[in-house]
Amino acid sequence: MIQKKWWHGKVAYQIYPKSFQDTTGNGIGDLRGIIRRLDYLKDLGIDIIWISPCYQSPLADQGYDISDYYKIDPRFGTMEDMEELIAQAKERGISILMDLVVNHCSDEHIWFQKALQDPYGPYGKYFYFEKGVNGQPPNNWRGYFGGSAWEPVPGTDLYYLHLFHKKQPDLNWENPALREEIYQMMSWWMDKGLAGFRIDAIINIKKALPFTDYSYPPDRDDGLASATTMLADAVGIGTFLGEMRDRVFHKYDAFTVGEVFNVKDEELADFIGDNGYFSTMFDFRAAVWGGDPRGWYCSRHITPEDYKSCCFAAQKQMEQIGYLSNIIENHDEPRGVSRYIPAADLSDHAKKLLAIVSFMLRGLPWIYQGQELGMENLPFTSIEEIDDISTLDEYAVARRNGLTAEEALAAVSFYSRDNARTPFQWDASANAGFTEATPWLRVNPNYTRINAAAQIHDPCSVFSCYKALIVLRKDPDYADTIVYGSLEPFREEEENLMAFYRHGKTQTLLILANFRKEPRTVTLPGQCRKVLLNNYDTFSIRNDNTVTLEDYQAVILDISK
Ligand code: NOJ
Repeated sequence: MIQKKWWHGKVAYQIYPKSFQDTTGNGIGDLRGIIRRLDYLKDLGIDIIWISPCYQSPLADQGYDISDYYKIDPRFGTMEDMEELIAQAKERGISILMDLVVNHCSDEHIWFQKALQDPYGPYGKYFYFEKGVNGQPPNNWRGYFGGSAWEPVPGTDLYYLHLFHKKQPDLNWENPALREEIYQMMSWWMDKGLAGFRIDAIINIKKALPFTDYSYPPDRDDGLASATTMLADAVGIGTFLGEMRDRVFHKYDAFTVGEVFNVKDEELADFIGDNGYFSTMFDFRAAVWGGDPRGWYCSRHITPEDYKSCCFAAQKQMEQIGYLSNIIENHDEPRGVSRYIPAADLSDHAKKLLAIVSFMLRGLPWIYQGQELGMENLPFTSIEEIDDISTLDEYAVARRNGLTAEEALAAVSFYSRDNARTPFQWDASANAGFTEATPWLRVNPNYTRINAAAQIHDPCSVFSCYKALIVLRKDPDYADTIVYGSLEPFREEEENLMAFYRHGKTQTLLILANFRKEPRTVTLPGQCRKVLLNNYDTFSIRNDNTVTLEDYQAVILDISK
């Protein structure tokens, strides 16, 4: 049994500030926009908010390239706005998490500027500068956004390492002076009243050194090897993460959620066990399912059966270790309803089904802005509409591999990060009530139908379903089972039925979700005492204890003895 923590029973929400609410008329969301919408979030039942980066940044990767950790980018507001946001959230019982992006900073950060002036000086040691080999980069690593992970430093024989974009130089965690700077900065933010951090790309801070080529067959025709290959050989990240925990997180009793890919199985307990480096980490199993080293154009689309397997596998793996964070989507993923529900089946019932199964898994449920409305992928009509650097790279990869412009657009549209970054759909007025100016990214044309104003007072809306799930999670009669109960699959082998028990100390809940359009009949494994939630108006139990689940019907039943 894991140690109980204050945040286990909560519900968390991610805000992508650039696309949430513009109040200044520059087409970009801002901190005052978040303040304006705090009551909306309170009404939904949110307890914890993670705000994607709003620090000073050239926005080459939408703020994940920080040029000053101690400043708010003027496009998002001021430090006073941030302080007011933290205070106003607190008044509503909401905790704020900032995004901690410390694998890299921006090439416009003063540290990097000084390092460029004197690569062999103290700031040069904040980064990785290496000599090239015969006029080529120091090794054959490919960055996550395509191309070599090394960028030449003009006028020298040096290159600097950037696992992400070339405007995101990697910080050298081997250097204790750099680590000190980071811990100081983190403490400075915690002193402002944060509850903690979401921690970006953290597995990358430990590199396999010294830098060598990976001679496995190159995974793409560019002859390079993915940086993830190197991560498997990088040993000793725990020294850095343990230090960060002891120096900062423990001192503040911070709540932290790690963005952790590629963690080694044997290290999971070190990451989120009782004295783990982090409080929790996101479960990305379903998000990475079907990925292909050759690129998005070769990735396989996930089916409901695969989704079910991913969820159950993650639950099983973590049950004795720690408390996961469950997501349906985030700012790096397509909209979950467009990904996990076959396009031909998409309906409000299906959207609610997805919400129900995800919320009833053991773990901390997260909502990414707009998910609570059932926001969908954007039907891109041209590559010109795409802003995201990762999608543009994947498009180029697809084209290089022979796809026509049309085919390449179709391939990357499904996965594009911009799907989730379109402006929040507040109402049916111009630009969905997001801005009075031209929005920085196109508003999804379905906003006249899918928007908050149309849903908050409609008891049958997707929003109301999320709200009901949150109320149920906090209901004293059921909270302990929902938050801590063990999960046991029910009729796991039955195709497109996602069903599971949650066993509490004194009660058992059964979640039944018919992940297909055709109805199905199920025999209940016990007497139903109460239907706790149902995404249809009707649900009846026959005398022989069978029930029929309609097209994407999902129910939560109390079947305690
Ligand atoms: C993960 C972030 O979520 C993503 O948006 C970003 O591009 C990379 N890390 C690099 O910071």
